[in-house]
Amino acid sequence: MTAVIEVRSPADGGVAGAVPDQTAEEVSSAVANLRANQPAWEALSYAERVGWLRRYRDWLLDNEDRLGRLLQSETGKPWGEATFEVPYVVDVINYYAKHGERFIAEQTPRPHGAITMTKKQRMVYRPYQVVGVITPWNFPLALALMDSVPALLAGASVVVKPSEFTPLVTREAIAGWAEIGAPPVFGCVTGYGPAGAAVVDNADFVQFTGSTRTGKVIGQRAAERLIPCSLELGGKDAMVVLADAELDRAVNGAVWGALCNSGQMCTSVERVYVEAPIYEDFVARVVERVGELRQGQDDQGYHFDVGALANENQLAIVQRHVDEAIEQGAKALTGGKRAAAGTFFEPTVLIDVDHSMACMTEETFGPTMPIMRVADAEEAIRLANDSAYGLSATVWTKDKQRGESVARRLEAGSVNVNDMFANLFTLPLPQAGWKQSGIGARNGGEYGIRKFCRSQAIVSSNLTPKREPQWYPYTRLKGTLLRKLTRLVTARDLRRRFGLR
Ligand code: NAI
Ligand code: MG
Repeated sequence: MTAVIEVRSPADGGVAGAVPDQTAEEVSSAVANLRANQPAWEALSYAERVGWLRRYRDWLLDNEDRLGRLLQSETGKPWGEATFEVPYVVDVINYYAKHGERFIAEQTPRPHGAITMTKKQRMVYRPYQVVGVITPWNFPLALALMDSVPALLAGASVVVKPSEFTPLVTREAIAGWAEIGAPPVFGCVTGYGPAGAAVVDNADFVQFTGSTRTGKVIGQRAAERLIPCSLELGGKDAMVVLADAELDRAVNGAVWGALCNSGQMCTSVERVYVEAPIYEDFVARVVERVGELRQGQDDQGYHFDVGALANENQLAIVQRHVDEAIEQGAKALTGGKRAAAGTFFEPTVLIDVDHSMACMTEETFGPTMPIMRVADAEEAIRLANDSAYGLSATVWTKDKQRGESVARRLEAGSVNVNDMFANLFTLPLPQAGWKQSGIGARNGGEYGIRKFCRSQAIVSSNLTPKREPQWYPYTRLKGTLLRKLTRLVTARDLRRRFGLR
């Protein structure tokens, strides 16, 4: 009998559903099936694959509410956040459906020099056969599908291993692929870490989103198998608020950026640096805004802003960061503790914090906003860069040019100036974590689909004499002629071209 994973609602602890805890053998045989079906999928034209993805997009839109409710049941998100993900995936489908063919079109570069003048050169993008996508619990639909879409369009088969905490909506969304009658090249396996490890052991490319700790384990295993991986890991995103910032926008951006999805976003605002002249004012307005937020999980009524944390582990991390900070002299101006039922944690604004505290250096992944006063932009930049992570950051100032020049000095893969999460929607730009935040990137226009391909060089001869001059046999006459000829075309001055003294 297969073991089962019972999925519980973080909002009320009720049972939301169950999925099998699949063994390594089951994962391996699922991957083998996907591999067997891949060549026929790759053999379709790009337009034919686009046809399936467009039908799938329509299925997602037709089932949006049902998927939203299921997602909500296992994540504890308020309705406003439970319905974030389908539109995002739809945008990704539309983008790669429209541009992907051009991004992976075969290229025929011209010969770069005389020696290869008679060769026809082609560069062909051929997909990896099976792409494994391993995902966390914070955005179970978007993170599973956003990478699967370009991989499928490239012609790969895709297997997704969702988080054991939120497997229901991912599994249901992938069932939609079969429901529309699409070729069997998109599958879902479920289980704990070992099921993820079995994906790494059987796939040809691994796309992982999750913790830096697990990312390193996956990277090591991928290295042993000599397969590439793309790791989208944690962050400790800094927000830099300069004295001339549009204050209300910065405050609203900070509150949403830190508390959206209960702070369980890799790109959450995890720490805020505010220039001294506006510090008091900024903090006062943040506290006022946070006080207006409603916490809880509604049905479809948009009655709440801040939902639950994904599970007790997550709540324990957040509580530890807050408690330690307070023990070390920080002050909580709001929240600071869990709310009555479920795994809700009250939105927590912390001040008098510094870099000796875990809340400023470790990924919290919760509804906290530690705010630190800085003397000037230089100090803010120095502190923002004082982190093991380098995912993204934001800069707030009315002087856009100055904002961008500060951005260029931050050690982060993406920087938004006067905006929050805007880069997540700019599909032509890469989302790449620097430092401990990952390797590789997602999206980034052509990069986002080429990464799922192996580039193949095909060279064919336009002229086919019996033999080429450099082939056997080697003779003095041929050798001397060849060397003179090569010199003639590669040297860049007369003396060397003609071997003159
Ligand atoms: P995790 O990174 O351990 O889990 C993510 C996925 O990896 C899950 O599907 C899990 O089953 C799978 N997995 C676990 N061990 C594996 C292995 N050895 N080989 C292959 N797959 C494996 O994340 P977890 O424990 O749920 O969250 C821990 C922390 O990760 C959070 O506190 C947060 O700081 C961070 N996190 C970061 C996210 C991001 O978007 N950057 C998302 C979720 C969590
Ligand atoms: Mg946060």
